Amino acid sequence: MSNSDSPLVMITGSAGAIGGATASLLARKGWRVIGLDVRRSERPDEFLVELVGDVSQALVWDAVLSRVNDAGGELHGLVHAAAYQVCAPLVETTEADWRKVLDTNLGSLYQAGRILHGSLAKGRASVVAVGSVHARATSANIAAYAASKGGLSAMVRALAIEWAGDGIRVNAVLPGAVDSAMLREGLRRGHLAGTGEQALLDQLANRTVNRRIGQPGEIATAIEFFLDERKSSFATGTELVIDGGATIRLSTE
Ligand SMILES: NC(=O)c1ccc[n+]([C@@H]2O[C@H](COP(=O)([O-])OP(=O)(O)OC[C@H]3O[C@@H](n4cnc5c(N)ncnc54)[C@H](O)[C@@H]3O)[C@@H](O)[C@H]2O)c1
Repeated sequence: MSNSDSPLVMITGSAGAIGGATASLLARKGWRVIGLDVRRSERPDEFLVELVGDVSQALVWDAVLSRVNDAGGELHGLVHAAAYQVCAPLVETTEADWRKVLDTNLGSLYQAGRILHGSLAKGRASVVAVGSVHARATSANIAAYAASKGGLSAMVRALAIEWAGDGIRVNAVLPGAVDSAMLREGLRRGHLAGTGEQALLDQLANRTVNRRIGQPGEIATAIEFFLDERKSSFATGTELVIDGGATIRLSTE
C-alpha cells in the first residue's frame, strides 16, 4: 500500500497474533500500515514501513514520528497491541520483570501519546488499546500483567477526555483467551489443573460460553470497528470485552 490518500495507522505488536491479524485486515481495507515490534512479521508486504524496536523506548517513538512525517504527517489510527506477560507469584517477580511489564504494556502508550499527539490530532485519529479481561477479573501469579492492563483501561478513559477537543477518540478492546504465543505460554502459570498444552487449551475453551478459544481475526474486526469513524464515531473512552462470554457467568452457576 502506498497511496497517500489512504488512511495511515500505526500498530504495535505487529508481528504478533492480534497485531498481525489487524495489520492484515487493515491493509486489505486500504490502510497504510506502519508496524512496530521487537521482531519482524511473516508478512512484510502488508506494511508501508515495518520497524523493529522496543515500544517502551522514547527513541523508538521518535523514529516512528519521523516515518509518520515521511508519510504526510497525519496519523489516522494507533493500535497498541504489543505486550509482555510475566506469570509468577508477586514475591518471585523481579524488579526488572515488573518494570518491563509495566513499561511495555502501559508506559509505551505514554511514550506514543506524548510523541505522536500532534500527528494524531492532525489526523483526527482513533486510538485503540488492546487491553485484557485481566483488567476486570484475574487470577494468581499474574499481578504485574493485570496491573498493566488495569492501568491501560484507566488511561484510555483519561485520554478520551483529554484529547476529545483534538478530535481524537480513544477506546479499548479487551480480549479473553485468543490463540497466540502469549496465550500458550501463559497456560503454564498453574491456574489450570492438568498438563499438556491441548488439555489446558480445552479447559480454557470449556470456560467460555461458546466453548472455544478465540482467533486473532475475531479481535482484529473489533479493532477495525473502533478505527473506522463511519462505524464508531460516537464511541470514545469505552471498552469492548470479546471473550466468548468467559467473564459473564455468576460464581453461583
Ligand atoms: N492472546 C490472548 O489470549 C490475549 C488475551 C487478552 C489480551 N491479549 C492482548 O493482546 C495483545 C496482543 O497479544 P497476542 O495475543 O497477539 O500475543 P503475541 O505474543 O502473539 O503478540 C505480542 C507481540 O508483542 C510484541 N512485543 C512484546 N514486547 C514488545 C516490545 N517491548 N516492543 C515491541 N513489541 C513487543 C511481541 O514480539 C509479539 O509479537 C497484547 O496486548 C495482549 O496482552 C491477548
